[in-house]
Amino acid sequence: MGKQETLRVNGQRLWGSLMDLARIGATEKGGVRRLALTDLDREARDLFGAWAREVGLALRVDRVGNVFARRPGTDPARRAVMAGSHLDTQPSGGKFDGNYGVLAALEVLRTLDDAGVCTAAPLEAAVWTNEEGSRFQPVMMGSGAYAGAFPLDTVLAARDLEGRSVGEELARIGYAGESPCGQPLPEAYFEAHIEQGPVLEDTATTIGVVSGVMGLRWLRITITGQDAHAGPTPMGLRRDALLAAARVVEAVNAIALDHAPDGRGTVGFIQASPNSINVVPGRVQLTADLRHGDGQALDAMEARLRARCDEIAAGTRTAFHLEEVSRFAPCRFDPARVESVRRAAAALGLSHRTMVSGAGHDAVHLSRVAPTAMVFVPCEGGLSHNELENARPEHLEAGCNVLLHAMLETAG
Ligand code: GLV
Ligand code: MN
Ligand code: MN
Repeated sequence: MGKQETLRVNGQRLWGSLMDLARIGATEKGGVRRLALTDLDREARDLFGAWAREVGLALRVDRVGNVFARRPGTDPARRAVMAGSHLDTQPSGGKFDGNYGVLAALEVLRTLDDAGVCTAAPLEAAVWTNEEGSRFQPVMMGSGAYAGAFPLDTVLAARDLEGRSVGEELARIGYAGESPCGQPLPEAYFEAHIEQGPVLEDTATTIGVVSGVMGLRWLRITITGQDAHAGPTPMGLRRDALLAAARVVEAVNAIALDHAPDGRGTVGFIQASPNSINVVPGRVQLTADLRHGDGQALDAMEARLRARCDEIAAGTRTAFHLEEVSRFAPCRFDPARVESVRRAAAALGLSHRTMVSGAGHDAVHLSRVAPTAMVFVPCEGGLSHNELENARPEHLEAGCNVLLHAMLETAG
């Protein structure tokens, strides 16, 4: 067996770094709250940068704040084999979503540094800006801008609920970089991630070989009715925006159930105004998140929701405004790179199964510009986007070893 085949990552170092990173924005319940482009996001990025410099990696930051740590290759004609994920979290997020993919990529580079192994292609670890899409939309913003899915000016102008823009916040935290978005493109892209669902745990499988990702539509729905007194205003005279919103919540759920087992429908955000006990709410903003692995089914789900909104508006005498804030089509990863993930898992003697991701990932955008594949590892109870999100150190280590060998095979 050659030196490369016996190479293994340092699972303890990977776990230790994950726990160090999880202190930045740690919540009482053991999760992490580290929204994109906040001071905590800056702290996490700075820590990643410090770790990367310790092993001699060169850092660059692009205009949307994506960070790349590069290890040179021996063949000047080759482009980088890249791996990465994100450091931003949900408002009540966990320690592993995104953070694992970034630190697994770093651990691969640390391992090669320890072993003094040179690859033909350069290797890069990437931190993508605002994957979660919680504070700023669109979701998967940095990787989308990098892959040309969104114009840079549009994403820099996106604003949070307080009116602060991505461009202003990037400058404020010192991550408005100089390097042009999307240059140079990688030769291949890999991403390790916790599954965020129950399949691997339920089937006692260590590695998910991810063949693709469900498509997604996000709509922001603004409903306008009329503020009115809760006492004197007869029921028949009301234009209750929150009542209309409640019907939308039911409709989103019903539409997803009509597209079982692959349809998903969620209303995760709702804001009623004026939000006062004795006022009929005159304005509501809510979101709809629709997903399906089949593009036509997803189109049908969205069309059904739009038709239901018209009916609800008529039935409640309210006005609806629907705005699409994110979309991506179902994606299929590159068969050759998926096969190198599968081969790596098999060579390491790890149980594995092929699966489609219900969650969005930066790999979706990268897959449009480079051969891409993903590695999943189990998470406890399939729970994610939750402070209790948990994963076993040995699974994280196994996934990182798969990442290492898939990258080595590709980089040569
Ligand atoms: C990303 O976290 C998503 O919403 O799938
Ligand atoms: Mn993620
Ligand atoms: Mn997430």
